[in-house]
Amino acid sequence: MTAKSPRESIAVTTKVVLPHETNTLAKLFGGALLAWMDEIAAVSAHRHCKQVAVTASVNNVSFNVPIDLGDIVTLEAKVSRAFRTSMEVIIDVSIEDRVTGIRRMSNQAIYTFVAVNAAGEPVEIPEIVPETEEERRRYDAALRRRQLSLILAGKMKPSEATELKSLFG
Ligand SMILES: CC(C)(COP(=O)(O)OP(=O)(O)OC[C@H]1O[C@@H](n2cnc3c(N)ncnc32)[C@H](O)[C@@H]1OP(=O)(O)O)[C@@H](O)C(=O)NCCC(=O)NCCS
Repeated sequence: MTAKSPRESIAVTTKVVLPHETNTLAKLFGGALLAWMDEIAAVSAHRHCKQVAVTASVNNVSFNVPIDLGDIVTLEAKVSRAFRTSMEVIIDVSIEDRVTGIRRMSNQAIYTFVAVNAAGEPVEIPEIVPETEEERRRYDAALRRRQLSLILAGKMKPSEATELKSLFG
């Protein structure tokens, strides 16, 4: 299988926050944002592997700033690292100023997807080769995040998490 670049998996979507997606303070529901992130991350995962990709875990989500009713929100998803059948997808979320058009980062999430066949069984996917400095940083850190996620899911023993050991001694 030919290796691919993270660039080939980029998926972008833009939303406007509508009344039915907000709470009583007119701020976007976290659950609505999670669904948007899951959807665009699935497109990104699909662009990388050209297979059906299912969400295996949500590894990290930060809701750094509230998002207001009427805000224009852009989500950009990109595969940061591919393993045998699973891949990490990072979603960067930004809010666009309605007057200046300048975007500011508001949220980030990290999801793991697994490519599956028609029977729902995991299938192998292409490797990824990072190109930019940021892509290389995210690629390297993805292994630590994978080990942490697998430990939390009860699928890896802490003693096997070599990358985490090097971090925590
Ligand atoms: C995700 C799923 C396909 C994994 O199947 P499985 O039989 O557990 O397969 P495995 O244990 O062999 O894991 C397959 C890959 O997923 C990875 N994986 C599984 N759980 C993971 C987790 N919690 N975090 C990170 N990676 C995980 C494994 O490390 C493995 O990766 P690799 O092949 O790249 O090394 C299966 O659990 C599933 O279908 N889950 C439901 C998915 C779904 O419906 N999502 C929508 C949300 S409702």
